[in-house]
Amino acid sequence: MKTHRFITGKKNIKFGVRWMGCREKVRVGVIGAGILGTSHVKFCMKHPDVEVVAIADIVKEKAQKLASEAGANAYTDYKEMLKKEPLDAVFVATPDFLHYEPVVTAAEEGKHVYVQKPFATKVEEAKGMVEAAEKAGIKLMVGFGMRWYYAFTAAHVLVREGYLGDLISATMIHNDRIDVPEEMWGPLSKSWARNSTIADFLGSHDSDLIRWISGREAETVYARSTSKALGGVTPDSYNALVTFEGDFQVSLNLNWVAARSKPNLVDGVLLLYGTEGTVQLSWHGLGYNVVSNEGVEVYFNGEVSIDRLFEIQGKLKEEGIESRVVWETEWGKQERNRNRSRGLWIPSNIPHKVKHHQGDPQAHFIHCIQKDEEPFCSAIDGLRQTEIVCAIKESAKTGRIIELKR
Ligand SMILES: NC(=O)c1ccc[n+]([C@@H]2O[C@H](COP(=O)([O-])OP(=O)(O)OC[C@H]3O[C@@H](n4cnc5c(N)ncnc54)[C@H](O)[C@@H]3O)[C@@H](O)[C@H]2O)c1
Repeated sequence: MKTHRFITGKKNIKFGVRWMGCREKVRVGVIGAGILGTSHVKFCMKHPDVEVVAIADIVKEKAQKLASEAGANAYTDYKEMLKKEPLDAVFVATPDFLHYEPVVTAAEEGKHVYVQKPFATKVEEAKGMVEAAEKAGIKLMVGFGMRWYYAFTAAHVLVREGYLGDLISATMIHNDRIDVPEEMWGPLSKSWARNSTIADFLGSHDSDLIRWISGREAETVYARSTSKALGGVTPDSYNALVTFEGDFQVSLNLNWVAARSKPNLVDGVLLLYGTEGTVQLSWHGLGYNVVSNEGVEVYFNGEVSIDRLFEIQGKLKEEGIESRVVWETEWGKQERNRNRSRGLWIPSNIPHKVKHHQGDPQAHFIHCIQKDEEPFCSAIDGLRQTEIVCAIKESAKTGRIIELKR
């Protein structure tokens, strides 16, 4: 990091905490004062080591409103902000298709960058962003926030530790209610949603999650899309078959048209099958949740002894994930199936203290700057995600199977 401001920590003297006598503050700017830009500012205002210095948005009122809340300077031109303000880092929260320029410009100005997902909507742009970050020697992190959900961490740990054996296939369903594309950013005919797709908006999470959980790279992509409810402005849905290394077959089902009266704005399911076990995972619940249908269930092949379940439970606990052993002692007359009802259940309504990566993505970014560490969601992760999503879009458009060559 090039520059630091040192501020004495009165608070710490008051509470008698042994302290170095000084504290490093990371000075940040935010580009894009919309929904996510606002949440980044709120995060930064709570973080003891972060100072919000400036906010830029092409809409003057938005920049000014958020800047006044944060006690920061407002700009309508982020390039001017990058030139004038003594920033260490920026959060880029512009619309999906407008990440490239702010990221590359900030990198060229020597600022560390946290960019929202999707990393980019074009592969060429993603490559340019990776190159700019490498050339400038800055940290470029992608906000793949779902990597911090306990449920996906559980799936990652189970695969990494070999409890599921060799991966066979997965199905991932991810839905937004139709009011997301039609209303979240204003009418669809005018908003940036028409320059994006559900493959970019939610498929970016899924393609990254599957890579991270499986530890494998995608090789081929075949996809179809539909355009009925959104009038062809942007596709309603994509169905993609993505083949990963080792013949791991993944089906991604992405919908931007779930019914308006549905209780949850966004929800999803992951079903993951290995030679040794199965993971059934849902997040945000799929319905009224009269009976909780959110959480993770894990079942195993072979002999499922209680000691084995305790061992796996212990491994999950090491990562901050609490689970319950489900152990049926009676299975009626179907004695030969007695192992079927034995497994692990990871409910969503108990506190999980996932230990990895400072608790949330923005805190991890600040930590990486302070400790000079590489981000957990790197620019290369962003590039790989963009390659998969762009292959989904291209396959759906052309009807061809796309090979991802690296
Ligand atoms: N809304 C969500 O639920 C959500 C969740 C996770 C990630 N994201 C991602 O965050 C990003 C931003 O989404 P959002 O929902 O905050 O959108 P938004 O429309 O609410 O905010 C985007 C802001 O960027 C501003 N902007 C556009 N061009 C600009 C430029 N050149 N310079 C400065 N500001 C500019 C717009 O005026 C707007 O205020 C997207 O990539 C999105 O996919 C959104």
